[in-house]
Amino acid sequence: MTGTGTVRLPGDDASVAECARILRERGGLRPRVHLVLGSGLGTLSARVEDPVEVPFGELPGLPAATVAGHAGAFLMGGLGGVPVLVQSGRFHYYEGHGAATVLAPVRVGRALGARIVALTNAAGGIRSDLVPGSLMLIDDHIGALFRAPLAGPLRRGEERFPDMSRPYSRSLCTLAESVARELRIRLPRGIYAAVHGPAFETPAEILALRAAGADAVGMSTVPEAVAARAGGQRVVAFSLITNRAAGLGMESLDHAEVLRYGEEAGSSLGRLLETMVSKLPPPRTRPGISAK
Ligand code: HPA
Repeated sequence: MTGTGTVRLPGDDASVAECARILRERGGLRPRVHLVLGSGLGTLSARVEDPVEVPFGELPGLPAATVAGHAGAFLMGGLGGVPVLVQSGRFHYYEGHGAATVLAPVRVGRALGARIVALTNAAGGIRSDLVPGSLMLIDDHIGALFRAPLAGPLRRGEERFPDMSRPYSRSLCTLAESVARELRIRLPRGIYAAVHGPAFETPAEILALRAAGADAVGMSTVPEAVAARAGGQRVVAFSLITNRAAGLGMESLDHAEVLRYGEEAGSSLGRLLETMVSKLPPPRTRPGISAK
């Protein structure tokens, strides 16, 4: 694909295929689940068995991660006996990246064969019970990024007009809830709103999001969920509440606070994810992903 005259852009189909080829070669596994770990949630990486780590910067078209608390690497190995691709860190619009870069990791995971995407993020709590240290199972979302992730050429394996009437898998949500009950972890459902960032919201913006139905707010996840659905993957997503959203708490907001809570409650989320992965029903015998 790199022959004379072929232009390859970061995150385009050819780059994604090349990233997947390199990961397949180095990791030697076909992951069932692609886990995306957000700010401060990197602790789960230590639980991966026989890990093979590939930093983003070693893959064509993927920049090295720039945000503190985001490690910026793929890890391939086993989790709860299941082959997984763990992505520690992600790319955000607020770093100045375009959709092709923000979505490249999801597309790479899909090209490797992952049929399930588990997304995590740090978020500000809007609903009154979502205090710092809480977890929330994302039931639905509001894209308030003012950027459409799928605008542009149709990408390999994706639908032009994906149905988003049920973005998060019912059965994976039910499994997450039953594992949370078993582990005695509180896991209420809620609606996640994604904003562009990097500035935190104003109190007036939070009131507007609350009126629109948002329970938590963050700066990621929605683009990845949309791309994963467009590619026929099943999605489950969790917010780790690191602060009360602007105007609802006592304090002003800062990124260090986000990271501190990420590390604390992140361990519950890590246990939940690991147990959940180990309880996934056996894969349906559907080879690969149909290119629509
Ligand atoms: N707003 C947006 N993104 C966030 C927040 C917040 O309050 N907390 C963690 N990520």
